[in-house]
Amino acid sequence: MARPGLTNDADVRSLASNALLRLFDSLYEGAVVVDRAGRITWINDKYKALIGWNGADPVEGRMVEEVIPNSRLRHVMESGRAELLDVFAIGSRQVVVSRIPLQDESGAVIGGLGVILYDRVQALKPIVSKFQHLQADLASARRELAETRQAKYRFSQMVGLSARLREVKEQARRAAERDATVLLLGETGTGKELMAHAIHGASRRADKPLVGLNAAAIPETLLESELFGVEPGAYTGAGAKPRPGKFQLADGGTLFLDEVGDMPLMLQAKLLRVLQEGEVEPIGSNRLRSIDVRVIAATSRDLKAMVDAGSFRADLYYRLNVLPIRLPPLRERLVDLPVLCEALLEQITEKAGEPVKSVSAAGLARLATYHWPGNVRELGNILQLAAARHDVRVLGPEHFDDLPVTAPVAASAVATNGEVRALRDVVAAAEKAEIVKALAAAHGVKLNAAKLLNISRAQLYEKLATHGLLSETPDRKEAV
Ligand SMILES: Nc1ncnc2c1ncn2[C@@H]1O[C@H](COP(=O)(O)OP(=O)(O)OP(=O)(O)O)[C@@H](O)[C@H]1O
Ligand SMILES: [Mg+2]
Repeated sequence: MARPGLTNDADVRSLASNALLRLFDSLYEGAVVVDRAGRITWINDKYKALIGWNGADPVEGRMVEEVIPNSRLRHVMESGRAELLDVFAIGSRQVVVSRIPLQDESGAVIGGLGVILYDRVQALKPIVSKFQHLQADLASARRELAETRQAKYRFSQMVGLSARLREVKEQARRAAERDATVLLLGETGTGKELMAHAIHGASRRADKPLVGLNAAAIPETLLESELFGVEPGAYTGAGAKPRPGKFQLADGGTLFLDEVGDMPLMLQAKLLRVLQEGEVEPIGSNRLRSIDVRVIAATSRDLKAMVDAGSFRADLYYRLNVLPIRLPPLRERLVDLPVLCEALLEQITEKAGEPVKSVSAAGLARLATYHWPGNVRELGNILQLAAARHDVRVLGPEHFDDLPVTAPVAASAVATNGEVRALRDVVAAAEKAEIVKALAAAHGVKLNAAKLLNISRAQLYEKLATHGLLSETPDRKEAV
């Protein structure tokens, strides 16, 4: 026999659920129930107050996202899985919430329940602040990643006025307009990486990733997976998720293959296939993925000699050597010393937060007596050292005392091995060395260089032509 006042099961359920809702109301800082369609069927006053809902407007019947932007209740209903503890932002407040899908007897999801466990996360402060820190870290890591995949340098950062450098920059600009493979050749420190960034940045792929891989910096055993990626379970320890290779990461953009001369022969064959087919096959996969990647390769090695010696595949060499760009060593463009010193010292002092320094004319002439095997990188290091050691605004020759005198022109002017040479050759070498120094000291302004050498401007032009220096010396606006 039914007890008085309780007529049937439906009433019992309704009473029970009302009691539960009252319990939620008192227990939690906020509670909301939505139906299967994501429409709010019930929300308590505390929640309404928290979201600042205007008392007159009914909330019930509205879509949950309209009332609680970014609500994840719909997601919880779709997945059928509860989220028991999460930190959720309501306006500028962080609250701790639970989200539970509501199921009927058959297990079908018929709605969702969201509760705010704490609105003042005082008790959970350590956890919440840890969460916030992690989120901030994640955001900054994502930003960094996005930045590293963008071009860092532009053509304007490639400093130099010499004919050689201007010609190289022009070649690179033309290469940027095309989509063919570029091969950057040049000694260490000549700016190959800088050039690769500038080309990518000026190409139609500029807003797509620029992904770099240095074949000399990665152990041979890892190179293949770095380049082509790995499928899950390809080998013990390969992990459960597929790992994309650099080719895939660069899809749509540019892959910078640095130190390509250091690539092992076995991989050279695979690289060649990818370049020919435009498809990669991740390790452990039997599926080819087509990719759209522009390759810029670089090396400081003599690739042609390596081909002749059999340590670099001829077919890959020809595949890479479509648009070769040769970066001149600094010793062959010493007239760029003044502008380079100016730009490098600006960077160095800015980084150190110090007032900018410069190199005197005599200092520049001294720098022109060295052969710079490490090129612009070495020049930067020498300037940095001198700037750090000497608390002066203007660096002179005395601040570069440790630098040996090794410029080929200067060295050949002084007989090094006691051998006696034709006087004409010695005089010519000495003359050339002095002219190069004078040009450096005069910032490339020929009239001023002629004055330093105490010859006429016409005589200087004549001598520049004799020593094959004319094409090396741009016509700078002559400041008298
Ligand atoms: N023309 C230039 N103007 C200004 N800075 C330059 C120039 N060339 C090179 N640099 C600077 O010199 C340094 C070395 O350049 P980069 O790394 O591009 O050389 P690299 O040819 O790739 O050398 P490596 O073969 O050793 O990798 C960098 O700091 C770069 O910014
Ligand atoms: Mg490099």
